[in-house]
Amino acid sequence: SHSGDLVYGLLEKRPVIAMEGRLHYYEGYSMQEITFPIRVMSALGAKSLVVSNAAGGLDPQFQCGDIMLIDDHINLMGDNPLIGPNDDSMGPRFPDMSQPYDKAFLELAEKVALSAGIRLHRGTYVALTGPCLETRAEYRYLRAAGAEAVGMSTVPEVIVGVHLGMRILGLSIITDICIPDALEPLTVEDVISTAKSTEPMMTEVVRRFVAAARV
Ligand code: HPA
Repeated sequence: SHSGDLVYGLLEKRPVIAMEGRLHYYEGYSMQEITFPIRVMSALGAKSLVVSNAAGGLDPQFQCGDIMLIDDHINLMGDNPLIGPNDDSMGPRFPDMSQPYDKAFLELAEKVALSAGIRLHRGTYVALTGPCLETRAEYRYLRAAGAEAVGMSTVPEVIVGVHLGMRILGLSIITDICIPDALEPLTVEDVISTAKSTEPMMTEVVRRFVAAARV
């Protein structure tokens, strides 16, 4: 639903390159294809990566339109962009995943959001392939597995970012509430409309983060 443009320029006097939209695994692209832009950005000199998504909220404390900082993830996509021969000049065969989301970035994002009066949650994002939304039983299972938010993206890009040694900040807009015993039917229009109304808040957090980050 995004424009698909690649935007390059200065944000808060810092050089940034940004994708208006991304490729999804459920569209039929390979893991290597959907993560190729991350390799291009890294090759162009990007050392830090900010990833965002729309996600379903599994934590009963969450409300539609909230923002969650991703502090860990669970890969349930059944695939991995690093499968195949490893190019040792890009990164290690077995990348460490003990802290994929940069600790200092998490703290800084919380701090700049607070200064703008924006409350952020922190939690684990679980990625599935989609394109189906999840069943009630699946939501129960994902919550029990330890996730606070669920979506169909982000984890492949983060894996490749970690492989390349990038520092990563991840943010989810909670576009719908996935409580199994109170589940309402969901359409993509609902997701887009919530994401759109939270966008100014997300923009403010990212703008302040970029201005304050030491990279
Ligand atoms: N699952 C449930 N709700 C969602 C998702 C998802 O993958 N993405 C955005 N809202």
